Amino acid sequence: MKNHFFLLLLLIIGSKSYSQNALFVPDTLSGTNFVLTMHEDSVQFFPGNKSHTYAFNGNHYLGPTLFFQQGSNVNIVVHNQISDTTTVHWHGIHVPAIWDGGPYSEIMPGDSWNPQFTIMDHAAMYWYHPHPDTKTAKQAIKGAAGLIIVRDPIEAALILPRQYGVDDIPLVVQSQQYDSLNQALPRGMQDSTLLVNGTLNPFLNVPSQIVRLRLLNASGERTFNFGFSGNMSFHQIGSDGGLLDVPYLTNRVRLGPGERAEVLLNLSSMNGQTFYLMSYASELTMGVQGGPTMPMPLGYPNMNSPLNGVDFNILQLHVGAQTAQPILSIPSVLIANNLLNPANANCTRTIRFTADSAMVMDGPFYFNDSTFNMERIDYQIPINNIEIWKLINETMVAHPFHIHDVQFYLMDRNGALPVEGERGRKDVVLVPPGDSVTFITQFTDYADSLMPYMYHCHILMHEDDGMMGQFVVMPASVGVNELNKPYTNVCAYPNPTINFTTIKTPSGIGEYQLNVENMIGQLVYSIIGNQEEQFLNTTEWPRGMYFIKIHNSRYRQSVKIIVR
Ligand code: C2O
Ligand code: CU
Ligand code: CU
Repeated sequence: MKNHFFLLLLLIIGSKSYSQNALFVPDTLSGTNFVLTMHEDSVQFFPGNKSHTYAFNGNHYLGPTLFFQQGSNVNIVVHNQISDTTTVHWHGIHVPAIWDGGPYSEIMPGDSWNPQFTIMDHAAMYWYHPHPDTKTAKQAIKGAAGLIIVRDPIEAALILPRQYGVDDIPLVVQSQQYDSLNQALPRGMQDSTLLVNGTLNPFLNVPSQIVRLRLLNASGERTFNFGFSGNMSFHQIGSDGGLLDVPYLTNRVRLGPGERAEVLLNLSSMNGQTFYLMSYASELTMGVQGGPTMPMPLGYPNMNSPLNGVDFNILQLHVGAQTAQPILSIPSVLIANNLLNPANANCTRTIRFTADSAMVMDGPFYFNDSTFNMERIDYQIPINNIEIWKLINETMVAHPFHIHDVQFYLMDRNGALPVEGERGRKDVVLVPPGDSVTFITQFTDYADSLMPYMYHCHILMHEDDGMMGQFVVMPASVGVNELNKPYTNVCAYPNPTINFTTIKTPSGIGEYQLNVENMIGQLVYSIIGNQEEQFLNTTEWPRGMYFIKIHNSRYRQSVKIIVR
């Protein structure tokens, strides 16, 4: 075992350049009109072959950081210039379902997409990344991701570091596996290459004052147990979707894939010193990806990485002179989080994380024993519902559970109050094997009975393998009877289609009205029919997604079709 480990280390040192590189800090875009062009690129990470990448705008890896002001109406044009279908999802941002960028919002190669929404989120760091059905890992690990920083008046009134790239630094941390041709592997469970903002072996100069780091774990599967060398303490001030009530003095923040945290470091007395952002992975429990590797029976996939279960450096920080107007103290109070009252909950849902057998380590994993099905809506949630979701992990590995549309508050972990760093707004929660976690949330503002939001594991290959579900938020105008009816789809085939599709209605339907609406609700076609099989010629329809709605006095049914 030991020999094996040293051999791996030698291989890594042998194949990868150990020169230090200045940390890349993505450029920024602000205002209300944004253009994001996703393109193919390449980066010379290693000697030999360049690594094929996806990036946005002028970058070779990752995209610009978008600054959104709470209350503003943003208009984003996303151009797809890669040779594959994609989508762009605004992770953590509260948007109408049609602009959420989930697997339904496909942008074909060469096409554009124009989401428009009002920023209602709290000041925090969010991110955007592709979310196409079964292809998220493949695209995201090539670097197709970027950050979003939301500002709001409450955060703006606090004395906090806010000079982007100077004393307020975004850190996108990824661990990746590259093959012998230097290409990123979407299912790389032997990931040993660390990238921060796409920089290999990075260092950063920071001023000797209060410095704010915004951490995102954008890895496909690895969890980091972030801390700093020498067990230096710091204040965590924010979680995924907002600030905490008060700064939390600690020396660790554990982040699973998709999770974020904001921390403040007091470097006032450290001018001239060098220290490291680290992962204290030796403290992770078994089953959490990145913790000690489980002994695996013969025939199981190799999940060994030299980073598993050991403490390692991620980013070197050199402390230098102070800036002109340094922030030198940490506020004692931040914001007032309004926790929802569990007594007001309209319903509790239980989601068990399952697999085909208790021994499965690499998937597929399921929610409540069923795999993701685009034709099945898992939950219809009445608008404004306050809900408690109980997550129970019955598998051998940890899963970072993520839900779109909302931020939630953790109520407990295994019956105990979560640590202070997890008491703020969150959209991802890591659930280790055997654990159960409950959270409370409310589904406000946006209802759409046809367009679903996703919830899924943020380990990208688990998500792509079907550890995902979808819910619709139902408008108040839909009666209770309607809500209790199972959601019924009519069939359309072929779907996706190019030239035509046939709609198969329930037998004996009688006369019905068939309406076709596009993504933004415009009626594009309408017909009165009575055939059980209705032929639609789609040749002239612009590419995109359409809702086909059929109704008469007895039926109300719909189906989404994609025209390519
Ligand atoms: Cu960050 Cu549904 O994803
Ligand atoms: Cu998301
Ligand atoms: Cu998972």
